[in-house]
Amino acid sequence: MDERREKLKDFYFSIRDCRDCALWKTKTKLVFGSGNANAKLMFIGEAPGKHEDLQGKPFVGRAGQVLDNLLASIDLTRDQVFIANVLKCRPPQNRDPRPLEVGACKGHLLRQVEIIDPTIICTLGKHSTQLIIGTSQGITKLRGKVFNQDGRMVIPINHPAAVLYHPAKYHVLEKDFQKIKKLLDQKDHRRQEPVKPVSPPQKPEQLGLF
Ligand code: URA
Repeated sequence: MDERREKLKDFYFSIRDCRDCALWKTKTKLVFGSGNANAKLMFIGEAPGKHEDLQGKPFVGRAGQVLDNLLASIDLTRDQVFIANVLKCRPPQNRDPRPLEVGACKGHLLRQVEIIDPTIICTLGKHSTQLIIGTSQGITKLRGKVFNQDGRMVIPINHPAAVLYHPAKYHVLEKDFQKIKKLLDQKDHRRQEPVKPVSPPQKPEQLGLF
């Protein structure tokens, strides 16, 4: 049961000092991802921002609050899902990820997907959607649709940060979260084993995150 957690932990140790692209020089902490190693639902965002970089945890800023509210709207908490990003290290000034960086980090994300083996992947915004689905189409065309990728369901939705600039977009996200709930309920996709709660950070800090 804790096999995935152990594998994820080992994988974290293997990449925590990653220097596969130049972002290691400017980052504070590598943001591996957090949540339940046995999650059936995995979220993939873009890249750590300022707060994530300082804390070493994904979605801890204002976009994270939006994500928490959306999770609560379908009766989920962070310890039932897994949250990761396309990039593990913050791009300076939160600029868009560069193709070289995405290429260098892609294998890390795909390994996480392989270990966690979620039934449903929800991609947050353009960057993770294009990477996971392998398309250059924009998020407006793709959001709310369900794709099959290597036997998993992939549902792209708007990035929660979009709501911070366009509050009216919240209802679109709410609607898409209802769709995620339906997908989860279709069968009982959630694994039967008890959910292991996220423990407080131990040393090294990120080990408490999953
Ligand atoms: N935005 C993201 O895409 N990821 C984070 O971790 C935080 C904000």
